[in-house]
Amino acid sequence: MRSSRLQAQATLFDRLLKPVHRWIWGDLERRVQKLLRFGETEIDGGRDILRAAELTSDPLLRRLYLEHAIDEFRHSLLFRERAGSVLRQLRLRSRPTFQVDWLAPGGHGLDDLQVAEESDGSMLAFLHLSEKAAASRFTIYRDVMQHDPPTREIFEEILHDERFHMSYTLTHLIRVSPEHYRRHLWRARLSRLWKGYLRLATALAGAIGTLILTIQYFIVLPPFAWLAKRAARRELPGWSPITPERNGSLRRQY
Ligand SMILES: [Fe+2]
Ligand SMILES: [Fe+2]
Repeated sequence: MRSSRLQAQATLFDRLLKPVHRWIWGDLERRVQKLLRFGETEIDGGRDILRAAELTSDPLLRRLYLEHAIDEFRHSLLFRERAGSVLRQLRLRSRPTFQVDWLAPGGHGLDDLQVAEESDGSMLAFLHLSEKAAASRFTIYRDVMQHDPPTREIFEEILHDERFHMSYTLTHLIRVSPEHYRRHLWRARLSRLWKGYLRLATALAGAIGTLILTIQYFIVLPPFAWLAKRAARRELPGWSPITPERNGSLRRQY
C-alpha cells in the first residue's frame, strides 16, 4: 500500500503564496501560533477519522482509519512539542511584551464534517482531497523553513504520512466505489469549494463591516457631536421654568 504513494506536489495557488508563507513563518511568535493551530487541526481530524473507523462496516477500512487517526494524533503532538520549544526560545529572549493570550488556538480550519452522515465513498473522497491539500501546503511550509531545521524536519516527516493518507484514500475509494468514485470526488471538491467561498465571504463581510463602521465614526458622527455640543452650550445652567400648559399634575407618564 505504502509503495503506491501518489506524488504530492504543491498546487499553483500554494506556490504563488510562497512569499506570504515565508513572511508568516519568518516571525517566531506567529510560528508558535501557527504550530499550535496545526496541532489543534490535526487532533480534530484524528477524532473525525476515529469516528469514521467506528462507523464503517469495512474491516480493512477500519484498520486503515485507525492507523490514520494514530498518525494524526502523532502529528498533533509533533506540532505542539515544536510550538513549546519555539516558545521557550521566545522566553529566553525575554520579550516582556509578548502576549500569550492570543496563543489560544482559533478556528480549527477543517471543514465541518458530519462523519455519521457520510458513506465510505464520500468519506474517502473528502479525506483524499483534504490530505492532498495538506500535502500541498506542507510541501511549501517545508520549503520556506530553511532557517528552522527542526520545524522543517517535522514538516518533512508529516508530509511523508500525508502522502500515504492521500494515496490510500484514493486507492480504497476506487475499491469501495469503482463506478461512482469520480462523482464522489467531484461532490467533495464542490463542497470544499463552497465552504471555501463561505469562509472568504465571511472574512470579506467582516472587513467591509469594519470599513463602513470606521467611515461612519469619522464622517457621519462628527456633525452630530458638533450639533450636540452646540445645543449643550445653549442650555441654561441649573433648573429652568416650564410653560404652564406642561405644568399640570402628574396623572400620566408623558
Ligand atoms: Fe496530519
Ligand atoms: Fe493526514
